[in-house]
Amino acid sequence: MTNRYAIVLAAGQGVRMKSKLYKVLHPVMGRPMVQHVVDQLEALDLEKIITVVGYGAEKVKAQLGERSLYVLQEEQLGTGHAVQQAGSLLEDKKGITLVVCGDTPLLTKETLIELFNQHQTTGAKVTVLTTLMPDPTGYGRVIRNEAGDVEKIVEQKDASHDQLLVTEINTGTYCFDNQFLFEALAMVTNNNAQGEYYLPDVIEIAKMKEEKVSAFQANDSSETIGVNDRVALARAEKLMKQRINEQHMRNGVTIVDPDQTYIAPTVEIATDVTIEPGTIIKGETTIGSDTVIGPNSEVEDCKIGEGTKVIHSIVHQSNIGSHVNIGPFAHIRPNTQIDDEVKIGNFVEVKKSSIDFGSKLSHLSYVGDAEIGKNVNVGCGTITVNYDGKNKYKTIIEDGAFIGCNSNLIAPVTIGRGALIAAGSTINKDVPDEALSIARAKQINKAEYAKKINKLSK
Ligand code: UD1
Ligand code: CA
Repeated sequence: MTNRYAIVLAAGQGVRMKSKLYKVLHPVMGRPMVQHVVDQLEALDLEKIITVVGYGAEKVKAQLGERSLYVLQEEQLGTGHAVQQAGSLLEDKKGITLVVCGDTPLLTKETLIELFNQHQTTGAKVTVLTTLMPDPTGYGRVIRNEAGDVEKIVEQKDASHDQLLVTEINTGTYCFDNQFLFEALAMVTNNNAQGEYYLPDVIEIAKMKEEKVSAFQANDSSETIGVNDRVALARAEKLMKQRINEQHMRNGVTIVDPDQTYIAPTVEIATDVTIEPGTIIKGETTIGSDTVIGPNSEVEDCKIGEGTKVIHSIVHQSNIGSHVNIGPFAHIRPNTQIDDEVKIGNFVEVKKSSIDFGSKLSHLSYVGDAEIGKNVNVGCGTITVNYDGKNKYKTIIEDGAFIGCNSNLIAPVTIGRGALIAAGSTINKDVPDEALSIARAKQINKAEYAKKINKLSK
């Protein structure tokens, strides 16, 4: 097979975003735009992926890591100039080079494969991916001759009144014969409204040289939107959200209100999961079957088992077992391990703790840096006192212990197996297995005393 290469253009600042963050790093559904582009490229059989970096070069490189090679475009003199920078790695190669912009996050590998195929079957030197945009404002217009062949691309700022009426646009995605590309780029000038070296000018040069130019028109214009400002960013977010949600629904996930459900592209969800409205699922999360997430919940980087419920709650960077009940209004913070059939109820916060099978923390507790065994009952209002202002200490509660309501467990401390803590206790010494521990002031009842006070105050 002919060698295939790809160049990703990602050196621009993205002035129209009006942002400290470089344009291609703006996230769409939680993933930087340029990463979406590279995700799709990785699914193709490419010899090299080269990203042209400039503004925010170090940040873009850190984001993509070893998934790409890099060339630096020191000055942003236009898309043609950007591609030229990859010459040092590609100039002498025979094959096809795909050029994509780092700001077209919705492009799919299927469309790119079709583009490659058309390029190869027609034997063209350039094949441009075009589409009919309902509102073509801002895009380069595809100018065809009477025979319907592509003649050139004219940028919005250089276009005549008639050219501006054309709705077929350049998506900024192309296949080139690699050697032709670099020869033609050497002939591109910056004689235009923006004083830039335009990559699309290579098409006019091909025509001049009587080389074959082809166009592949994508049916779905929403796939090719270029994100130049935050209005387009919100549009891309909406489209990506819809695409992801539809994929999950087709795979057997119930999404009650897809408009109100945000699932990152890196999330895996099994069949018969129900996602209630107002739910955001991010990062490297996997969710087992028959689980219910939401309404109004946020889950990030978690592994969640089967038949679990997360209702009105936040769960971050934790492992949650099967048939666990979380919420409403619980907060599970990072590095927590929750085993099967555990209950975490209303207004409970758990941080960096492990909770073993069948234990219950039903109401109003803070549990941090704790190791809780099996079938433990943590009564309402229990607090692990894990911090002395300098260091954090561990609380261990062994299997079958029962912690009475409103207890303070001052760490480091161990509550033994089957031990019983009386309600309202402040525990600062270890409690042996099966012991009862009471640590609270003794109650005194003063007969008729209230009556006396009431009389005095009249
Ligand atoms: C470009 C095309 C336009 C097309 C549109 C599709 C040109 C001249 N115009 O316009 O025909 O309709 O994309 O979305 O190519 N970049 C660099 N170095 C530079 C300039 C840009 O790396 O010197 C990168 C940017 O980071 C961006 C991409 O190239 O990822 C496209 O640049 P942008 O300025 O967004 O071009 P558009 O005006 O959208
Ligand atoms: Ca753009």
